[in-house]
Amino acid sequence: MSLTMDNIVSLSKRRGFIFQSSDIYGGLAASYDYGPLGVELKRNISERWWQEMVYRHDNIEGLDASILMHPTVWKASGHVDAFNDPMIDDRQSKMRYRADELVENYIKKLQDRGKSEQAERVHQRFVDALNSDDLPKHLHEIILEEEIRAPDSGAFDWTEVRQFNLMFSTQVGPAGGDDNRVYLRPETAQGIFVNFRLAQETARQQIPFGIAQIGKAFRNEIVARQFIFRMREFEQMEMQYFVKPGTQMEHFESWREKRMRWHVENGIRSSKLRWHKHDKLAHYADAAYDVQYEFPIGWQEVEGIHSRTDYDLRRHQEFSGKKLEYFDPFTQERYIPYVVETSAGLDRTILMVLCEAYEEEVVDGEERVVMKFHPEIAPIKAAIFPLVKRDGMPDVAHEIEKDLRLRFNAFYDESGSIGKRYRRMDEAGTPFCVTVDGDTLEDGKVTVRDRDSMKQDRIPKENVVRYVEDKIHAWQRS
Ligand code: GAP
Repeated sequence: MSLTMDNIVSLSKRRGFIFQSSDIYGGLAASYDYGPLGVELKRNISERWWQEMVYRHDNIEGLDASILMHPTVWKASGHVDAFNDPMIDDRQSKMRYRADELVENYIKKLQDRGKSEQAERVHQRFVDALNSDDLPKHLHEIILEEEIRAPDSGAFDWTEVRQFNLMFSTQVGPAGGDDNRVYLRPETAQGIFVNFRLAQETARQQIPFGIAQIGKAFRNEIVARQFIFRMREFEQMEMQYFVKPGTQMEHFESWREKRMRWHVENGIRSSKLRWHKHDKLAHYADAAYDVQYEFPIGWQEVEGIHSRTDYDLRRHQEFSGKKLEYFDPFTQERYIPYVVETSAGLDRTILMVLCEAYEEEVVDGEERVVMKFHPEIAPIKAAIFPLVKRDGMPDVAHEIEKDLRLRFNAFYDESGSIGKRYRRMDEAGTPFCVTVDGDTLEDGKVTVRDRDSMKQDRIPKENVVRYVEDKIHAWQRS
């Protein structure tokens, strides 16, 4: 089958993974809510990230900084002046586009049509534009000279390219005015930079060490579509690793390797992951790669690994007047640390996991949709069914459910045929279904059905929890 984003959107709504925000009012563009299954998936993924980054590294500490920060933070970080996207309007349809994406898509179209020479020439112009002092002007020239048309209307009636700041602003307190303007953070990283000294001193860490955080970020994206891929409110899982200047590239390579491994350990096939090297580095970076996944909309970024130099700490030191240096007790050196950052989108990781898990199969002439999540991140680990609602079967099933619930999220279901109950759990991605039947009352055994292979094992009911635990740990993608 060839997977589409519509498959994922429709399953997400049907099974309660993800809903449009404010659905009863017609929804709010680019905002989504996680339903009962989605919130479990989200918690499991973020928990796995936290375990990997914070618990498995004795030199990484956690942090939970506030969303609203002192407005000078965003002047120091460069976001007030430089956190812009170049936008262009189609005068006929009044639709707004990101000018850089129009050019990128045009290059891709040329490549797909085998016009590699022309693609290479436009790509080189694009890279030059990205590195120029006047990005809007150069993008506008490329769009006009290459006669790139509006994707929706097909028109060729463009406005100038203008820069659009992506930060949401609001006011603190009852008085209005610029003095009270604050921003909703567009990245969690700055909360880590401004707490660098406090976290390092209170946790008594020495360089190299890291600070990890999971939290909301907000960007007023010009074009926010493709479901939860690009939202205006989303969550990041970021870690800033503070290192001695000059050693950043070795840490950068080590984190690249670790972060790619983490995605594979979550059940993502290596063949669907790749590295993308940045053509243009952000103003703060001296190296940057993205982990990309092959979504139904093409290869797209899930996580960025950036070597951010000492830019952020140096700027915060300058703007706050507070020293943000590190004193090395062994070498007696004093310096502003360099930073290697790993920055994953939680929502994009969820979308990747949903795409990766989705399969349609024909079983005994019937189609089934099955979500083959890694059991560690599956929203429900085990479902328990009495074959019928009588003869004491529900009581035995509830007992097993109680034991299961002490360890994981479990689900009890007694409605509909067993086949229907299996199909519901396949769509929820539940790896194990346990059935209590008439024989259970005689021999004390239950049937456990495996989601992926659909094979069934008959085991003593007291062993169900251990059995599920062992199978979760031993799971491998089929
Ligand atoms: N601190 C660095 C930073 O924020 P970024 O590449 O702009 O880097 C990091 O963002 C990650 O955040 C991306 O790889 C992506 O997964 C996620 N992300 C960024 N913008 C997003 C959006 N509008 N909606 C969903 N996720 C987004």
